[in-house]
Amino acid sequence: QAQAIILGIETSCDETAAAIVVRDQSGRGTISSNVVRSQLDEHAAFGGVVPELAARAHVEWLDHIIAQAVAEAGIALKDVDAIAATAGPGLIGGVLVGLTTGKALAASLGKPLIAVNHLEGHALTARLTDGVQFPYLMLLVSGGHSQFVLVRGVGEYERWGGTIDDALGEAFDKVAKLLSLGHPGGPAVEQIATKGDPARFKFPRPLLREQRLDFSFSGLKTAVRLQAEALAPLSEQDVADIAAGFQAAVTEIVAKRSRQALERFRAELPEAEPQLVVAGGVAANRAIAAALETVTREMGARLVVPPIALCTDNGAMVAWAGAERFALGATDGLAVEARPRWPL
Ligand code: KG4
Ligand code: ZN
Repeated sequence: QAQAIILGIETSCDETAAAIVVRDQSGRGTISSNVVRSQLDEHAAFGGVVPELAARAHVEWLDHIIAQAVAEAGIALKDVDAIAATAGPGLIGGVLVGLTTGKALAASLGKPLIAVNHLEGHALTARLTDGVQFPYLMLLVSGGHSQFVLVRGVGEYERWGGTIDDALGEAFDKVAKLLSLGHPGGPAVEQIATKGDPARFKFPRPLLREQRLDFSFSGLKTAVRLQAEALAPLSEQDVADIAAGFQAAVTEIVAKRSRQALERFRAELPEAEPQLVVAGGVAANRAIAAALETVTREMGARLVVPPIALCTDNGAMVAWAGAERFALGATDGLAVEARPRWPL
């Protein structure tokens, strides 16, 4: 395998991102640049991501972000060996901006295009950051996704379970909104929860007694809303106690499900080292990370949490997934279409 320089483009949600990643002959990856422009300010007043605004901001910024990524890598655009762009899943307007830009660059430079599944980007990141070997279990917990995926190889993914309603980050965001803590809510809920009493309110742990590896957070969110309404107007201590009760519930849910998933991993792949890789913005949550440390230690499994900037949406994960596919000769034609819904 020759060395490959890959440009990655990510526009599926509310970050406009581009990166240059180099994959060397031995299959190791290096990030030469990783530029992310978050649209948080554009969406802040609306309490969530507004798809139309997101798409417009991607149009406005993507060319600059790509130029910056190329410049910071100290290369010229013509030096890249392939262009990888997220083709889904995500908000269709944003995906189209990134994918169309990727196609235009590929056509004008005469370089191959790789249409990357955003979830595959998350799934393979730990190989870039930590050189993790297949197989491993990924727990993806972000604003848009919550799922367990067995990663056997590039393109070999088995979904073992996921949310049947809200994503975990989305649940944090909705609880933050109920408690008037602003958007995005995860960091704010986590912060204020540390000042609260987790025992004052015992919120439900939906599905937890069942054996399946699925999540459900909407009933929990409703319980939080009813409690907040019953107490209104909320004192600062009420807010902290509700946040603490919610944090305790989701931490227990994620820990228990991860333990079950690792038990299944051991049963189905007895020869393999059990490894749990975390991806998505919720990986930043210290209580959840600490619980995952305990579970993996008790299960004799390895826990891999990439640096948080690579757990959240970024261009390097897309470039790396592209690099892994490129090494296998898996490029796409320019007719490839955006797929707003695209399971792994
Ligand atoms: O991966 P990400 O940046 O975006 C996507 O959804 O793709 O994840 C963002 C999500 C938001 O819902 C945010 O509230 C949540 O991750 N989050 C957290 C924390 N930091 C970010 N949730 C809980 N605790 C945190 N410290
Ligand atoms: Zn993501």
